[in-house]
Amino acid sequence: MSIHAHGFGAPFWGALVLIASLFFVMACEEEPTDPEERYERLGQRVYNSYCSTCHGANGQGVRGAFPPLRETEWVVGDEGRLIRLVLHGVHGEMEVLGETYNNVMIAHGFLSDEQIAAVLTYIRGNFGNEAGAIRPQEVRRVRDASDQQGTWEASELWEATGIPGEPDAPDPEEEAPSDATD
Ligand code: HEC
Repeated sequence: MSIHAHGFGAPFWGALVLIASLFFVMACEEEPTDPEERYERLGQRVYNSYCSTCHGANGQGVRGAFPPLRETEWVVGDEGRLIRLVLHGVHGEMEVLGETYNNVMIAHGFLSDEQIAAVLTYIRGNFGNEAGAIRPQEVRRVRDASDQQGTWEASELWEATGIPGEPDAPDPEEEAPSDATD
């Protein structure tokens, strides 16, 4: 006798449970409760949508065309320079990990302050990098003070360091009271 004679058989309920749990998992992935985790997820999403086609899913780059994002001074170095690079794009000769690139990266200023901060925090904390987070208000300050027209010439961008406003002001969000020394 066929299983269909018994109404909704095991395969049906099995499939239903599977679908229900898939929805549950997807719902959980949409809304991580931890703010740090949500920021990480946003950064990863922005990276996969706007950066990975050129720089690779794991920041490995494409030799001779798109530089890697692994332990490069552009990524783990000065925050202001990195923010400017993404806001306005960059062109011209640039040395990355001993290789010379001479290509063009378009501006990504159409992304929000939060998207840029999250994606930069993401690349600074992944691919073997261990540099600190970048906050949306830092992107905002660089954006507001900028009068850059067109993409940066790489050698000029290299010198364009720092965040306007309060360069050395500690970020209250990053201040961990337990870390305070005297
Ligand atoms: C269309 C391809 C393309 C996309 C998309 C792109 N880049 Fe780039 N990126 C480049 C190229 C090409 C260079 C080198 C430019 C040059 O030769 O002057 C570069 C350089 C860089 C550098 C400095 C060099 C290094 O490897 O450390 C960083 C950092 C960077 N990109 C980050 C990003 C981030 C973050 C995104 C996404 C928001 C992004 N890029 C999107 C092509 C791209």
